[in-house]
Amino acid sequence: MKYKFPKDFLWGVSTSAYQTEGNGSNTDWWFHETHKKHTDKYPEEPSGIANDFWNRYEEDINLVSELGCNSFRISVEWARIEPTEGTFDEEAIFHYKKILQYAKSKNLKIFLTIHHFTIPLWFREKGGFESLSAAKYFSRYALKVVEEFNDYVDFYITINEIEVLTLMGYIRGSWAPMKKNNLLAIWVHINLLNCHNRAYKTIKKKYSAKIGLVKNISWYEGKGDSLLDKLNARAAFFINNHLSLIPVSRNIDFIGLNYYFSNLIRNFIVCNPCDPESDLGWWISFEGLRNTLVSLRRYNKDIYITENGLADAEDEKRSWFIKNMLITAHQALDANDVRVKGYFHWTLTDNYEWHHGYWPQFGLVKIDRKDNLKRVKRKSFNYYKMICKTGIIEDTIY
Ligand code: BGC
Repeated sequence: MKYKFPKDFLWGVSTSAYQTEGNGSNTDWWFHETHKKHTDKYPEEPSGIANDFWNRYEEDINLVSELGCNSFRISVEWARIEPTEGTFDEEAIFHYKKILQYAKSKNLKIFLTIHHFTIPLWFREKGGFESLSAAKYFSRYALKVVEEFNDYVDFYITINEIEVLTLMGYIRGSWAPMKKNNLLAIWVHINLLNCHNRAYKTIKKKYSAKIGLVKNISWYEGKGDSLLDKLNARAAFFINNHLSLIPVSRNIDFIGLNYYFSNLIRNFIVCNPCDPESDLGWWISFEGLRNTLVSLRRYNKDIYITENGLADAEDEKRSWFIKNMLITAHQALDANDVRVKGYFHWTLTDNYEWHHGYWPQFGLVKIDRKDNLKRVKRKSFNYYKMICKTGIIEDTIY
């Protein structure tokens, strides 16, 4: 069977600044990497030079183009653009323009993420997203990004995954700012939604840019037939999903969905089958993507799958994963009438996977860290390339 996507469907790969650029020394993440005590478990290793995307961007954008993608999701580092409070760095801005220009020269539509997890040190010292003034600082920076880069950008994403940032930074405490405080987590969550809303309104006063928010959504399913498990799963999904989307639903032009895994719930706890899973132990469920997409229909917005991928160093499951996720997305589009407009694979090259360091490998392209960060295409690179070039998934080939 063949699944044909619409002609105007966007095919892309998704990346982020801190995970690829290297030397993000003016950020809160770098601070935690360099101030790690020997009793701290995380981060498992420092980011260092990452993939040196800052200097090797042409090589990587050539790979995006070779894949046959028509789109590219990239982020900018706040700490480079506004290294000290209220001062913008013209050199860094110029460098980002060169990167974006180069991507444009390859006919790529640009999705630009304004904030992908890291903040400048000066903002950290002011309390970061805990600060009552966070929305003021964030929207000033966001407006500057649009003023400078609007000639190159097709879609803006204000903030990547508000809920992951609060979960990892304020509940689990394994990401910057490494706190474990549930009440603070709730406040930061509200404040981040506020940052989005204010940035959206500030930008819209001057620009007709398309602006969205990227949300990480896991599907929750009750294990077995128990009514209690089913109700718990519904509640978990509502909290995880709609509680963050409802407060911004008037201030988004599209929804960015990052979908990685689903969770089975039994007696209030997550109880996933061990198979099939990624190198990080994430349970792979295709049906979860479909259910999630269907649940987003109520917002009546275009949906872009802005991240979807898996840690798979041996590249054993990646092509199979891509094939089935895309068949599922196609079914949602075709049979359920969901407005899915694009798919961005996470990610182009192996990169810095936050508190885990470099061992989880999500790339269509391997980075050989022992050989001058050499880019080595995996088999799945060619599989995804075939899809991007034709817009067709064939049931049997992967
Ligand atoms: C984040 C990425 C991360 C990926 C895989 C997403 O939650 O946006 O930065 O690398 O998941 O863990």
